Amino acid sequence: MLAMKQPLLTTYELGAVQLKNRIVMAPMTRRRVTNNDLAPTTLNTTYYAQRAGAGLIITEGTAISPTAIGFINVPGIYSTQQIAGWKLVTDAVHAKAGKIFVQLAHGGAASHPDFYNGEIPAGPSAINPGLQAFTQEGFKDTVIPRAFTTEEIKAIVKEFSQAALNAKQAGFDGIELHAQIYTLIPQFLSAATNQRMDEYGGSIENRARFLFEVLEELIKIYGKQVGIKFSPAAFNPGLLKPDGFTIDTFDYILNKLNNYDLGYVHLLGPDRDLKGTPIEALQDNYFSRFRNIYQGTLIANLGFTQQTGNKLIDDGLADLVSFAAPFIANPDLPRRFELGIPLAEADQSTYYSGGATGYTDYPVAVKG
Ligand SMILES: Cc1cc2nc3c(=O)[nH]c(=O)nc-3n(C[C@H](O)[C@H](O)[C@H](O)COP(=O)(O)O)c2cc1C
Repeated sequence: MLAMKQPLLTTYELGAVQLKNRIVMAPMTRRRVTNNDLAPTTLNTTYYAQRAGAGLIITEGTAISPTAIGFINVPGIYSTQQIAGWKLVTDAVHAKAGKIFVQLAHGGAASHPDFYNGEIPAGPSAINPGLQAFTQEGFKDTVIPRAFTTEEIKAIVKEFSQAALNAKQAGFDGIELHAQIYTLIPQFLSAATNQRMDEYGGSIENRARFLFEVLEELIKIYGKQVGIKFSPAAFNPGLLKPDGFTIDTFDYILNKLNNYDLGYVHLLGPDRDLKGTPIEALQDNYFSRFRNIYQGTLIANLGFTQQTGNKLIDDGLADLVSFAAPFIANPDLPRRFELGIPLAEADQSTYYSGGATGYTDYPVAVKG
């Protein structure tokens, strides 16, 4: 009885993709792709297949080109080896009646010369975002990047387009554009890291231009099976923090997205009290404010539990809810929700390394 009533366990139509429940596995970088090709392997295939009970899996952030990399051991989707590796993953998820989108990512200035034979990475402007990149030698501070030329920006839009074509070949059901925390799109959106004088800088409209150009390319290839993940309330180290433009920027973007035939917006909630911050006005109405602006499918994220996730959907504040950390130690998370089985705790020391340990060795629950 109870199981049938849980909103999280009801089906949902996301464009042409029928989801068996409204539990989304949020993207998680796990840094388990250690081969030189940065191609997914049978280890990654096992990990994703184990989690195919989710209504939708969104993969870890995946580099769209060799110059989009910001962390070690993160997969790409720009070579034939990588496409073949991902095909293993999508086939295995589909064999278990799961659905899987790839999260397309570009690190921009959130990278390090170690990834580019000593060449400095590029970003919207020659301004150090004040972040850290994880290299072969551990965390290293970001440097002052080179500013992209206007032509280079247009070339990156095309790289996203090629990555989407590659995703099709690899069998993905759709794409999520990574526009959260400190990746390239937030670097364009922020006046602190984008001081360009061309059509990609200056006004909010100009700073958002890159994002819309990329989305238009992705939609051309994947139709409605395209989503985007934002984090308006992410207080990153360094320069990329909510500021006096943040609310207006997201009001503008979400309004404009209503004109796009988009699959969904995936919103990361605030992880702190917003009082006294430039986005204090979002303190008590974060999801409802954006929900009121954006008319399409909304996935809510950050710190949800079975109870709070069900309530959010019940209250009409989101259509789907995503869970990241809970999926690490609970590969069968939807089944646990259905049967009321307590959740296992993940070992944080193996979030980003450890091979199979802490990755594919968490068991499914046995109902007592
Ligand atoms: C190990 C780990 C890796 C993550 N990697 C990514 C990523 O590659 N892309 C992304 O958009 N978010 C990433 N996130 C953020 C999650 O998708 C999610 O927004 C966040 O963990 C909050 O959800 P939760 O409270 O259910 O864990 C990561 C989170 C974790 C725990």
